[in-house]
Amino acid sequence: MTRLTGKTALITGAARGIGLAFARAYVAEGAQVMIADIDLPRAQAAADEIGAQAVHLDVTRQDSIDAAVDDAVARLGRIDILINNAALFTAAPIVEITRADFDRLFAVNVAGTLFTLQAVARHMIARGGGGKIINMASQAGRRGEGLVAVYCATKAATISLTQSAGLDLIKHGINVNAIAPGVVDGEHWDGVDAFFAKHEGKAPGQKKAEVGAAVPYGRMGRAEDLTGMAIFLASTEADYIVAQTYNVDGGNWMS
Ligand SMILES: NC(=O)c1ccc[n+]([C@@H]2O[C@H](COP(=O)([O-])OP(=O)(O)OC[C@H]3O[C@@H](n4cnc5c(N)ncnc54)[C@H](O)[C@@H]3O)[C@@H](O)[C@H]2O)c1
Repeated sequence: MTRLTGKTALITGAARGIGLAFARAYVAEGAQVMIADIDLPRAQAAADEIGAQAVHLDVTRQDSIDAAVDDAVARLGRIDILINNAALFTAAPIVEITRADFDRLFAVNVAGTLFTLQAVARHMIARGGGGKIINMASQAGRRGEGLVAVYCATKAATISLTQSAGLDLIKHGINVNAIAPGVVDGEHWDGVDAFFAKHEGKAPGQKKAEVGAAVPYGRMGRAEDLTGMAIFLASTEADYIVAQTYNVDGGNWMS
């Protein structure tokens, strides 16, 4: 369990859910981890529990991104790995989508990903030696969904940004790749389930049961199902992997 020994990682949105599982797995692999989240009390509690550090970050604000990256560099010494994991979800029929919801999701999921990636890439280029950047996409970025247009569009944009940034930054030794999960149980999916209860008239928990039963593997994902890919993409074994998005979804999608 030492594939990341001596490495440092900044993980956004890691106060809970998949990001927290990544933080825990990275610490177990020997990395120093900075949990960066808009919910600082929860991020700090999580960091204390797993042996990481925490910093406040609102990925929608450039001053917050700059301050969090500076703070992480000061406290970790450098940033070797970034996981752009913070994201929001919303669902509505096309005719009910609001401009406010559209702006909110694109600010976090797309602009937040791009400008956090940019700030960390600038640091990596200035210090030399390259690095690893992992963006969290989704099966939702692989195709549209009737009630999920805005979230799907943000995740398609994440896949596209991964491709462009991957191609532009590899000359600096910075590998940019993405992970596309399927349906992963947790607080995020509790919220998704509530959206579907509202828009499809389902009972609470019904949508979760349906999507879990439809996964070829036979159940919803767990955050821990994704950690192997996150460790691999951050390791030297992934040096030759550039601008790719990997599905880790129990067989939901093939591309
Ligand atoms: N759970 C799933 O089924 C699933 C499926 C596909 C993709 N994903 C993606 O994986 C990632 C993690 O998902 P999750 O299920 O752990 O989500 P989650 O909702 O449980 O956690 C998201 C975290 O992001 C933080 N956050 C929200 N806005 C922020 C902001 N402006 N700045 C900084 N932090 C902010 C939240 O405080 C929270 O800790 C997301 O990118 C999500 O889109 C999740």
